Amino acid sequence: MKPVIIVNFKAYKEGTGKEAVELAKICEMVALETGKNIVIAVEEVDIHKISSLVKIPVYSEHLDPIYSGAHTGQNLPKALKDNGAEGTILNHSEDRFRIDQLEESIKIAKVIGLKTVVCANDSNIAEAVASFKPDMIAIEPPELIGGDISVSTAKPEIITDTISKVNKTAIIPVLCGAGIKNRSDVKKAIDLGAKGILVASGIVKASNPEESLKELVEGL
Ligand code: G3P
Repeated sequence: MKPVIIVNFKAYKEGTGKEAVELAKICEMVALETGKNIVIAVEEVDIHKISSLVKIPVYSEHLDPIYSGAHTGQNLPKALKDNGAEGTILNHSEDRFRIDQLEESIKIAKVIGLKTVVCANDSNIAEAVASFKPDMIAIEPPELIGGDISVSTAKPEIITDTISKVNKTAIIPVLCGAGIKNRSDVKKAIDLGAKGILVASGIVKASNPEESLKELVEGL
């Protein structure tokens, strides 16, 4: 897999609605200019608009483990796909799933044709979810999320432990995220064996997201 930067827009005001469209276009421009693999994950309500305006992959930040039918107020995987999503984040620290729901979500995503990036807050959880065979696993220590010290600097061992535990079960690309702010954070992660990174505040809340994303891409 080509190393990837996944920009998670979360529900930041700079990453939703009109601002999300602008940010998505910046991410697309940087991807085109640099030839790097940049994916964006956006709020479900913004998927249709954004995916019709940019050519880089657009992921959902969440889905619910349901098929079409009598469900109210849930995010139907087929609708996400039909509206342009290519994949989804699952089990983010800010959106934890019960294990049975996670297993079912991955299963349904495979049937529908959505890629899955499953987050894990430690290497044991990562090892457990590897048996569900998601497309990618992302290790993100919750205490570092949104901060200024990156996972690759503060906890390099969590990345290497996760890779070796996951690989006992299946060959699944492991990404990492939390506190990623500069090219050296990205480079360290890649040198440790990660196949990419997830980033949110370092881009979405940056004073100059274009410059910040170009900086990160250099570490890929
Ligand atoms: O999904 C990525 C995210 O949780 C990392 O957040 O703000 O530390 O880059 P941040």
